[in-house]
Amino acid sequence: MLKTLTVALAAGAVLSAQTAPAPQFNVVPLPASITAGQGEFVIAPTTPIVVDAALGAQGRQLASILGPATGFDLPVRTGASPATPHIALRLLNDSSASDEGYSLDVSPRSIQLTGRTPSGVFYGIQTLRQLLPTAIFRSARVSNVRWTVPAVSIDDAPRFSWRGGHLDVSRHFMPKEFVKKYIDLLALHKMNRFHWHLTDDQGWRLEIKQYPKLTDVGAWRAQTLIGKYVTQPAPSQFDGRRHGGFYTQDDAREIVAYAAERFVTVVPEIEMPGHSQEVVAAYPEFGSTDEPVEVRQTWAVSPYLLNADPATITFMQNVLAEVVTIFPSPWIHVGGDEAVKTQWEASPRIQARIKELGLEGEDELQSWFIQQMDTFLTSKGRRLIGWDEILEGGLAENATVMSWRGIKGALAAAGSGHDAVLAPTSTTYFDYYQSRDTANEPLAIGGFLPLDKVYLWEPMPAELPAESQRHILGVQGQLWTEYLPDPKAVEYMAFPRMSALAEVAWTPGERRQLPDFLARLAVHLQRLGILDVNFRPQ
Ligand code: ACM
Repeated sequence: MLKTLTVALAAGAVLSAQTAPAPQFNVVPLPASITAGQGEFVIAPTTPIVVDAALGAQGRQLASILGPATGFDLPVRTGASPATPHIALRLLNDSSASDEGYSLDVSPRSIQLTGRTPSGVFYGIQTLRQLLPTAIFRSARVSNVRWTVPAVSIDDAPRFSWRGGHLDVSRHFMPKEFVKKYIDLLALHKMNRFHWHLTDDQGWRLEIKQYPKLTDVGAWRAQTLIGKYVTQPAPSQFDGRRHGGFYTQDDAREIVAYAAERFVTVVPEIEMPGHSQEVVAAYPEFGSTDEPVEVRQTWAVSPYLLNADPATITFMQNVLAEVVTIFPSPWIHVGGDEAVKTQWEASPRIQARIKELGLEGEDELQSWFIQQMDTFLTSKGRRLIGWDEILEGGLAENATVMSWRGIKGALAAAGSGHDAVLAPTSTTYFDYYQSRDTANEPLAIGGFLPLDKVYLWEPMPAELPAESQRHILGVQGQLWTEYLPDPKAVEYMAFPRMSALAEVAWTPGERRQLPDFLARLAVHLQRLGILDVNFRPQ
């Protein structure tokens, strides 16, 4: 990658020597439209930020973004713009403008940032931040920097409404402060969904008041596999250290509020009926065999499934009833992936249940299970979202599909009038290796997903009829943490691939050019470095 980047920069240098030097706006993701102007705006210690009454929070956000590095305590006030140089944040009453869009006009006299909603203004602030010298990202005063913004006119709006980043906190628990940092990084990239994978075989991570054993038992595993998971020979090397942790409901509410200030919706995931070994460890009565089991210490797919008794359905609905009081998200994720059906096939009780419900087999039973959650969530005014296996055996009425095994699931969902999010392994699984030289990379789950492959992905399936394209809500990057033991490991895998995906999600497809992205990325990585992000060097 280093070579590619050097070549790209050299090519850019040759071009700009031959043509008029165009200012380089190193904004990631690239805005929909940028026109360079003449001159620059200089931010001075007394430059006022004037805002519409509804934008007080955004005015304060901007002042607090500009404050630490400049050392300026910029005044924020509501009302009319003064004749002197100023920054103005305005709301536009124009129902034709994209909800999340904004326009940013910078001249030597003023910076005018206008959005139709506060989220649009927030995204304009993210752009403005990136038009300043990178030192603006420092958290303490930097002297000898002129805080200038080049004159420019930007009109911008996102391509997709779902611009997601996922984080698995089950396989390895991630501290609350890192979850906030991850949300900050998503927001910096104008991403707006945080898919929080809160439960899995290796640990349940959310306090549920009615079922305390979910965290007393389910949040802790006795030890963790060392090295790569293989079945031959059977796993034998473990670290001997208890691992776990969970978020209290107040912790989760704090995260939700933190995300909301950054226009990020937190979509919680509660896995069912598979990826549930930790639930069975805590409450064996909801499992499908009579064997006791511990919270899982190895990776790969566990055979432990929930059963489909009425008491189990009630249990999961009670869990979701608490979940919806914590997470205002319109979508609640119920997992549904990789529920291998061996225990259901072998269980006379489950087989009797299939008959009793008049179903055809195990796939239909899973569909029935998910349908019970769909009905429940719909009654709470929410929408169920699940991995694409929820299509097997029939898709629940109001479900949205997250397509991970390629995009077939998204095509099937969109074709039948359901919404879908694209999360295919081939371009969005950031737990895959970033280089073929795996010996010089940290141990990963496998695969190969280099930065350019993420960037060059055209997500809208060509085979999808135009009238169904609106069902493709957007794209999402996945961070599964079997082999990512801590925040630094997550950052290494997430960046800069998430930066590339942010551009896939935000920027019009025809505007994306790999060499241009790599040139902007070189500057963007300086920002990430200042923010103490352990990105993979390019
Ligand atoms: C998945 O990767 N099992 C959704």
